[in-house]
Amino acid sequence: MKISVIGAGNVGATCADVCARKELANEVVLLDIKENFAEGKALDIWQTAPIDLYDARPVGSTNDYKATAGSDVVVITSGLPRKPGMSRDDLIETNAKIVKSVTEQVIEHSPEAVIMVVSNPLDVMTYCAFLTAKVDPSKVFGMAGILDTARYRAFLATELNVSPKDIQAVLMGGHGDTMVPLPRYTTVGGIPVTELIEADKLDAIIERTKGGGGEIVKLLGTSAWYAPGAAAAQMVEAVVRDQKRVFPVCAWLQGEYGLNDIYLGVPVVLGRKGIERIIELDLNESEKQLLNTSATAVKEVMGVLDTMKLF
Ligand code: NAI
Ligand code: 2OP
Repeated sequence: MKISVIGAGNVGATCADVCARKELANEVVLLDIKENFAEGKALDIWQTAPIDLYDARPVGSTNDYKATAGSDVVVITSGLPRKPGMSRDDLIETNAKIVKSVTEQVIEHSPEAVIMVVSNPLDVMTYCAFLTAKVDPSKVFGMAGILDTARYRAFLATELNVSPKDIQAVLMGGHGDTMVPLPRYTTVGGIPVTELIEADKLDAIIERTKGGGGEIVKLLGTSAWYAPGAAAAQMVEAVVRDQKRVFPVCAWLQGEYGLNDIYLGVPVVLGRKGIERIIELDLNESEKQLLNTSATAVKEVMGVLDTMKLF
């Protein structure tokens, strides 16, 4: 197995670190456009191997895609992160050009790879990679739902003073303020969350989840990386180990949930072939309305990509 992570910044390096520690592949390639940056990060990660006792090898490369050749999975994290006051959508002008040029080179060297996008604005950057790669959409998808769900589960674990391990949840929609956490599909050790928490407290947690990325940007001056990197690595693991995990993933919809030609977060089965199945939940009217509002917001940003005339 071979995994490549494009962009050796905060999220990319964290993802590569987790992939190496979990020995998800013999070789984990980290590539960045900044001279020597990926080499330095890969060397630092490799020097944790004798301490933490693993033998997957991190390899760094300055923009030489030959190092990524024959990858089974490629994670794209290259691009600008948010600064305070910016929305994810403000990044589109710069990041679309980066994601397009990166995807072209990825596909040229690893035509069979499953491609996972992390760069923001997530749903539209995943669409950009799909338009560039010209492969089956089951092999091009985006990471956001695991992160957003993890934030929701972490906030619930704190509020209820229970282990986050016991909290299961589904969250749908775009990776933005219109994301749709679903209390009806949230359980704590099998118990519906609504039986354990007052409605106003749950509403407050849902609102905090929607602004969860922005909360970290305000605290740090840039966006999060530990949880995003770990979330991306969890998806890589599902693919390389063919786990058939059920995760919320940014997937290409062709009629599912009544939506067409859009990348949006939905529950899927993730395995060696990428997205093996999209799971269609029987949403009620208000849930459908929230999902449609989120889809409209994503379509607007897809429209901005169209006006850039990159394709
Ligand atoms: P960062 O600035 O730490 O790292 C980005 C790296 O990309 C830099 O090292 C930069 O040199 C590299 N890069 C830029 N252009 C490149 C190119 N053409 N080829 C190769 N490398 C290139 O940023 P960070 O924090 O790692 O975030 C990366 C992206 O992920 C951002 O767009 C951010 O908004 C997004 N993000 C998405 C999340 C999600 O849930 N989907 C969560 C967190 C971040
Ligand atoms: C996050 O949610 C900014 O998308 C990034 O942390």
